[in-house]
Amino acid sequence: MRFKKSVEEILNKQINAEFWSAYLYLSMSSYLAQKGYSGFANWMRVQYQEEISHALKIFDYVLSRGGDVKLTPIDKVETEWKDINEIFQSTYDHECLVTDMIHECYEVAVKERDHATANMLNWFIDEQAEEEEAAMEIIDKLKIIGSKGSGLYMLDRELASRTFTDETQEA
Ligand code: FEO
Repeated sequence: MRFKKSVEEILNKQINAEFWSAYLYLSMSSYLAQKGYSGFANWMRVQYQEEISHALKIFDYVLSRGGDVKLTPIDKVETEWKDINEIFQSTYDHECLVTDMIHECYEVAVKERDHATANMLNWFIDEQAEEEEAAMEIIDKLKIIGSKGSGLYMLDRELASRTFTDETQEA
């Protein structure tokens, strides 16, 4: 089936959004590292790597369908936050926004009867549910810890162990 322009366009938009997400999380990682939270910074750096892998998964898919990838400028991202709570709340909000964008891609694919693209996007639909859950889990832990320094220290140590595995290759 011929690759439709409307699908190509919205997937190109999504590639940009995934790179923008990577940029946002790298900025958060830098902020956290500067504040001395090396574990939280590590978690965000892995998040950055995940977003790059998401962008590349769509990038490769568009090319495999004979479409054009047009890389466009990445909008600037925040560099300052009030505290760790605000960072993870922003992460959660951002992931909800990305979920909406993925759903929009899916709807365009279905409307165009492009089932191969819809199928590829199913992976992202599942991934978004996990991404939202991961951010929410940290928000909940931060709520339990409150302002206790020792709890924050323990959580920082826990998040230091997160490593990147390219799940886009497992699908
Ligand atoms: Fe690629 Fe976190 O969405």
